Amino acid sequence: MYRDKNCGQLTEDDIGKEITLAGWVFRRRDHGGLIFIDLRDRSGVSQIVFSPDVSKGNHETAHTLRSEYVISITGKVSKRPDGTENPNIPTGMVEIYAEKLEILNKSEVLPFVLEEDQEVSENLRFKYRYLDMRRPEMTANLIKRHKVYKGVRNYLDARGFIEVETPVLTKSTPEGARDFLVPSRLNPGHFFALPQSPQLFKQILMVAGLDKYFQIVKCFRDEDLRADRQPEFTQVDLEMSFVTVDNVIELVTGLISGLFKDINGEEIDTPIERLCYDESMERFGNDKPDMRFGLELKDMADLVPDCKFRVFLDAIEKGGKVKALLGKNMNELSRREVDLLTEEVQSYGAKGLAWIKVTDGFESPIKKFFPNEILQRMADRLEAAPGDMMLFVADRESVTNDVLSRLRLDIAKRNNLLKGPNKFVWIVDYPLLEWNDDEARFQAMHHPFTSPSDKDIELMLREDITDRDRISSIKAKSYDIVLNGNEIGGGSIRIHSGDVQKKMFRILGISDEEAKSKFGFLLDALKYGAPPHGGLALGLDRMIMLMTGAESIRDVIAFPKTQKGYCMLSNAPSQVDEKQLRELYIKSKVAE
Ligand code: AMO
Ligand code: AMP
Repeated sequence: MYRDKNCGQLTEDDIGKEITLAGWVFRRRDHGGLIFIDLRDRSGVSQIVFSPDVSKGNHETAHTLRSEYVISITGKVSKRPDGTENPNIPTGMVEIYAEKLEILNKSEVLPFVLEEDQEVSENLRFKYRYLDMRRPEMTANLIKRHKVYKGVRNYLDARGFIEVETPVLTKSTPEGARDFLVPSRLNPGHFFALPQSPQLFKQILMVAGLDKYFQIVKCFRDEDLRADRQPEFTQVDLEMSFVTVDNVIELVTGLISGLFKDINGEEIDTPIERLCYDESMERFGNDKPDMRFGLELKDMADLVPDCKFRVFLDAIEKGGKVKALLGKNMNELSRREVDLLTEEVQSYGAKGLAWIKVTDGFESPIKKFFPNEILQRMADRLEAAPGDMMLFVADRESVTNDVLSRLRLDIAKRNNLLKGPNKFVWIVDYPLLEWNDDEARFQAMHHPFTSPSDKDIELMLREDITDRDRISSIKAKSYDIVLNGNEIGGGSIRIHSGDVQKKMFRILGISDEEAKSKFGFLLDALKYGAPPHGGLALGLDRMIMLMTGAESIRDVIAFPKTQKGYCMLSNAPSQVDEKQLRELYIKSKVAE
């Protein structure tokens, strides 16, 4: 018997009992006479005491214990002497005087210490992930993740969903990223794509009559990585037949609020607020607004004709936008700091940053271009008070919005506003399509299988629809769920008519042949009685990151990849030998 219970489970009820525990030597205080060990396992720590009289011969051995040795001890549980209790941990009232000690395995000196407050580089943590995961915060993240899986399965099972696996070796499913490809040995020159999502398969499951599907599933996207992106990540993917937008939103709201309540003990206000895409862009500059604070973007276009500032006038004349943000408490910024802020904004894509400080009057190098009355109206609109700064960007609408949405977060950070209770919001009524300037064609805003709104279907089917503005005005039955400025999920009601789907491909510039070769199996399935259907996928890693307060999704994934898409633990990807490549009919130029 290695152990009677776990290290974190010792309580005052155990006092007087003889107990065996096993685990890792965490902290060690060797006073020569008494030796104290914090013995750790996944559940927590217990204090073990080795004394010359109780531990006898084992006391000598206890001197040789080092950090992360794996040991098993047996001894009597006693109450800690008055004044030595530790009320901060569940086992803090008791300790075990060890009689027996067995060293199960030794450990070399660790490449880093496991104490919470130590800064360790991420690359080192990833290389020795098995050590990193011994740290209690990492263990806690993985346990919470497990609870989320369980909560998801319970909730969806109770509502009639069945979990179905879909293939990993498959065909490209476009979700806007590059595919990972896998060469096929049995079909020379042919490749599988790893799925960016199970989108097509889940729709096929609806055609198959499965009615309600879900899957906790890995998705693969070869894209540039950030704190909230991984090349392989996990979705809670779901799809339902005979549903409307409201049905999906209600189901997912229930799922999320239940998870936050059961696992985090947080009460989420429901129904969750809904914001139309257009309104979100207008007020926050993007479709993933952090709703924990205000600092909304204000359109100043109507005031521009009364001023003489060329930059603003030009932007409006060219059909662009002039919008402003309140730089709360920012008028004490030095000239140098303002220059740095301008550079920051330029790195976001703006040509410049116009600023006006609010004092008892106004201060700015461009003040002379604005009548006082206009300055006052701008200040009123921004609710700016003395001590604040007004910050303006003038550009194409998309640039103005994007830049200011990012500046909004910078200002919030500066004012310590990125905190407070979790704030969810559903973004709805997205445009179906967006114009891609670089490629001079429309692309799907969500994905090509998203249904237009009922009132736009007829417009879309009309053969001659070539007018860019009219196509841009088509709305989609799609929705995203956003938490504190992070997109944690998205979905849509799908196109279930073959004609509409074909038309969609045509608007996207995908020829009938290409559509057939890429998505023929879906188009075929739509011919045989496809029910109306829709669904959504939650980004599980992102959601758990927010539930745990982790700073990166890498902290809630057992074996993540670095920013460069590299696995430090296994050293993947790696080169393969020529023979393997030959078998796959592949020649690697890099390897030569
Ligand atoms: P979408 O592409 O919006 O939708 O993905 C759903 C959610 O997955 C998360 N996510 C990611 N998380 C980590 N790393 C990534 N690289 C990454 N990419 C996306 C996001 C996102 O909201 N098939 C559709 C869903 C549907 O229509 O039902 C889809 O995949 O949180
Ligand atoms: P300029 O006339 O180019 O010297 O610019 C005067 C001020 O306007 C500077 O503070 C610039 O940073 C700012 N500015 C320049 N272009 C823009 C723009 N597109 N939007 C907002 N401010 C700008």
